[in-house]
Amino acid sequence: MKAFTCIATAVTLAALMAPAHAQFAKAEDAIKYRQSALSVMGTHFGRVGAMANGKVPFDAKLAADNAAIVADMAKLPWAGFAPGTDKGGNTKAKPEIWTEQAKFKEGQDKLIAESTKLAAAAKTGNLDALKTAFAATADTCKACHDAFRNK
Ligand code: HEC
Repeated sequence: MKAFTCIATAVTLAALMAPAHAQFAKAEDAIKYRQSALSVMGTHFGRVGAMANGKVPFDAKLAADNAAIVADMAKLPWAGFAPGTDKGGNTKAKPEIWTEQAKFKEGQDKLIAESTKLAAAAKTGNLDALKTAFAATADTCKACHDAFRNK
């Protein structure tokens, strides 16, 4: 029984340490995963934006809740851009993602940094701080989409 537990633990550890692409059985699965994560992030970012842009009344609690989700979701899509997932499904990912990986990674890091600041700004309940941080975060979305996403 002990030996079995040991083997089971080793197998679990190996699975955890496997490269990102091993987390998905098929390219289509990875593509669906990243698009879903981006879509959820986009939905919550849009809700913050509606307040930052004055389209809906500012509600500090709602802004903070949504910005916190954006900051969490900002970490997720990238595992879905594993090698070999440049084609399949209805992906809009440009091939440059896999040939300019350092630049793509830099874009992810900027998003994570700015969305963390956005979540912190939202927590203060100050609408001006929220507006500034929203604009800075939106710039990171646009920069990456311009470089790495097909229209
Ligand atoms: C580091 C690059 C990068 C950053 C930063 C980035 N995106 Fe994207 N985004 C992409 C790529 C690449 C795709 C296309 C993915 C695909 O089709 O496989 C995409 C697709 C999307 C989609 C479409 C998902 C779907 O349903 O197919 C949404 C929505 C989206 N991004 C929102 C955002 C928002 C909002 C931000 C900023 C808060 C952001 N993205 C930041 C690279 C990025």
